[in-house]
Amino acid sequence: MIRVKTPKEIDLMRAAGEITAAARSLAGKMVSPGVTTLEIDKAVHDYIVSRGAYPTFLGYGGYPASVCISINDVVIHGIPDSRVIQEGDIVSIDVGATKDGYVGDCAATFAAGKISQEAERLIRVTEESFWEGMKYARAGYRVSDIGHAVQQYVEANGFSVVRDYVGHGVGSKMHEDPEVPNFGRPGHGPRLVKGMTIAVEPMVCAGDWAIKVLSDGWTVKTVDGSLAAHYENSIVITDSEPVILTRTGG
Ligand code: MF3
Ligand code: CO
Repeated sequence: MIRVKTPKEIDLMRAAGEITAAARSLAGKMVSPGVTTLEIDKAVHDYIVSRGAYPTFLGYGGYPASVCISINDVVIHGIPDSRVIQEGDIVSIDVGATKDGYVGDCAATFAAGKISQEAERLIRVTEESFWEGMKYARAGYRVSDIGHAVQQYVEANGFSVVRDYVGHGVGSKMHEDPEVPNFGRPGHGPRLVKGMTIAVEPMVCAGDWAIKVLSDGWTVKTVDGSLAAHYENSIVITDSEPVILTRTGG
């Protein structure tokens, strides 16, 4: 069941979203050669708590950390550890914060030092594909119109979109209805209505989209070892442009 939010709930989600976006940006600034992923996790955890919020991922389904940090061929759900970030790595940061009962969820991929042109293009196309999807994220369109636009853009640029994981409704829980795939035919799925809050999150592979989950039960990698990037914001549907909830500075 899709739960449409009241204006008061959307205010609370904007507050949670702002903390989440600030945490993403703090983590992104820390991404550089020589830093461990655990150091980033700790900084983000402390920041979120200092804002009077809770790191949503911590303990979610048994997840052991506050942030997902996914390097190079890791697509999503990389668990922070003693791994040292290297020059040329691409590092996806996915973070959630719960404040006053509402969740913000967002992600982005950052470069460690100088990265290859192909990696740079992958990061750029992934973020741009989110904004392509946003052209259809308004009342009157259907959920699959978003994913269709994302997929078209990604594939036109020679990359592929992950099929096994999708975006989702977001609200008082991190995962609510509906599912928001980053692929598919247009004109399917629930109709978008004003006040719906969803997390749109293209996961893009430089090569094939086949993925595998490692034995830790979390880490998702590309099968072919190709690089992957991720970009996500929580948004609210309106009658015109969508409002990005996970943004800094209000
Ligand atoms: N952004 C991810 C999602 O939408 C984060 C979930 S990771 C978990 O599902 F650790 F919290 F499960
Ligand atoms: Co999400």
